[in-house]
Amino acid sequence: MKKPLKTLERVLSKAGLGSRTEARRWISAGRVAVNRKVILNPDHWVDMDRDKILFDAKPLVRKEHVYLVLYKPKGYLTTYKDPENRPTVYNLLGDVGTFVVPVGRLDLDTSGLLLLTNDTQFAERIMNPDFHVAKRYLVKASRLLTDEELDRLRHGLELEDGPTRPALVERLRDSEKYTHFEITLTEGRNRQVRRMVEALDASVLKLVRVAIGPLRIGALEVGKWRYLEPGERAALLPQRSLARKASTRLV
Ligand code: URA
Repeated sequence: MKKPLKTLERVLSKAGLGSRTEARRWISAGRVAVNRKVILNPDHWVDMDRDKILFDAKPLVRKEHVYLVLYKPKGYLTTYKDPENRPTVYNLLGDVGTFVVPVGRLDLDTSGLLLLTNDTQFAERIMNPDFHVAKRYLVKASRLLTDEELDRLRHGLELEDGPTRPALVERLRDSEKYTHFEITLTEGRNRQVRRMVEALDASVLKLVRVAIGPLRIGALEVGKWRYLEPGERAALLPQRSLARKASTRLV
């Protein structure tokens, strides 16, 4: 059976009150009590079934889970706060009534589908490569790519953090100077598409994430968000064994 033990910092951020950094700050400032005793250590273990947690002397109330999908534009960071004050995806959300975290990251210059949620378990499953949730991207390469080069992306190539998994790659069109193609990955390493294209001695001029699992960008406008339908959320979480089978079809 799953143990109800969690760190105090995690309990606060999971309750939708704020980021984990903020939670640590509040705990260190003495605003949180466990069983009537102020606890200053954010890594203090609490038993969710038994311990009574107070924040600013009020019982912690668990928030409903919220799932959003945003069409992230280029030029927005996927972080909460930026020391340089550049725009972040939070500037596009407005008040959604709870603190949501991005499910993985898109680079500053990448646009497209970004999920945000306060359900950390859901987020971890979508990001966990063991679940093989497919992410599909449209790519404009900095030059024309040969069939052999697209095959290298397809079969997996060596990056500094190890070989990439087989991917689905489809040439969409070649203009005079550039190849436009679609790539579907079942892992989400940092800057993975850009690094794969760089391994071919080319670069990415445009990158858009158009689908996550069965979820498509559809009619969502750039910079806008909407709530996920319950059915869409369920469809994003395949069984682990089914996910493996799906990924073997990628090879
Ligand atoms: N791959 C990248 O290189 N960048 C992203 O933002 C997403 C996938």
